[in-house]
Amino acid sequence: MRVLEDVPLAPYTTFGIGGPARWFVEAHREDEVLDAVRFACEHSAPLFVLGGGSNLLVSDEGFPGVVLRIALSGIEQNGNIFSVAAGEPWDAFVSRAVAENYSGIECLAGIPGSVGGTPVQNVGAYGQEVADTIRSVRAFDTKSDRFVTLSADECGFGYRESVFNTTARGRYIVTSVEYGLNPGGDPAISYADLKQYFQDANTPPTLQQVSDAVREIRHGKGMLIVDGDPDCKSAGSFFKNPVISLEHFAKIVSLVGGQNVPHYPVGREQVKVPAAWLLDQAGFHKGYVMGRAGISSRHTLALINRNGASAKDIVALRDRIVATVEKKFAIHLEPEPVWVGKPL
Ligand code: EPU
Repeated sequence: MRVLEDVPLAPYTTFGIGGPARWFVEAHREDEVLDAVRFACEHSAPLFVLGGGSNLLVSDEGFPGVVLRIALSGIEQNGNIFSVAAGEPWDAFVSRAVAENYSGIECLAGIPGSVGGTPVQNVGAYGQEVADTIRSVRAFDTKSDRFVTLSADECGFGYRESVFNTTARGRYIVTSVEYGLNPGGDPAISYADLKQYFQDANTPPTLQQVSDAVREIRHGKGMLIVDGDPDCKSAGSFFKNPVISLEHFAKIVSLVGGQNVPHYPVGREQVKVPAAWLLDQAGFHKGYVMGRAGISSRHTLALINRNGASAKDIVALRDRIVATVEKKFAIHLEPEPVWVGKPL
């Protein structure tokens, strides 16, 4: 195991923000994961597991412990079961599944990051989430000090959550994920954007067409990572879509003069309201600028690093948005990316 010191983390994140890691190691095999855990233990240092860096905001002071970059690679296929190493790029796996005509993850095309991060936040988009296809997750359990396999049930998946980022946060280091895909299955076209895209089609779209459509829609919203595109220096959605009671929702409708407020039912008593809509209503529009931080010109929910922004710049914009939305709608928005380092 090669241990590097004081490695700047900004280049490892899509935000392009963040100070150095005190120690930095890369694991290409499972035994190297174990070595890194031992190293952190010996130095009484905290450990942070880095995947694709697409959903992180790293503090300007960096991380005072060991950053373990997961670089495990390889995909094993057994019939419709794909066992994928945590360091594999997610989007390449989606492309392969679609090209081989397996359905189940076609709507998750164009999402940056690596496979190991997908169960942690139950990655979802355009009507699918990985919880629909994950069969099990293999991980190193720092509590029992051994490798374990968690069934999908044991992962406790919810909206953008699992045991990995809630009850057992920091306990497991994901090394591979097993997905059960559907050979020759029909593509999912449940999301409004996709239905609209294919509304004039004479024949049902193929998996490949649906996957390509998702990519195109994501690109239109600046949610595809394209080098040199200023709207892409972000961590995707910066806030979760809040879930509120029907009573609270009714108040919001009356607050905005009875206009049509976008919402999606969650059970019978709650609704999810798009955070992007709340931001817009609170005066935070596409292209909003606050110093070196700003809002994407193509999607209200993506905060961006405009030009050498620091984590502090992003946090200042975050705080302004949270306070304004809270004052107007009595909703406290929760950030979606993972914060690394000393909280601000
Ligand atoms: N909207 C606006 N302004 C905008 C964009 C959207 O008002 O600039 C409103 C519209 O009413 C629109 C609604 O928000 O109908 C939903 O917008 P969109 O379909 O773009 O989805 P989202 O709720 O903003 C979520 C995920 C994305 C995922 C998309 C597509 C969260 C926090 N975000 O965004 O995931 O790609 O759906 O399924 O759930 C991510 O997590 O990083 C992410 C990009």
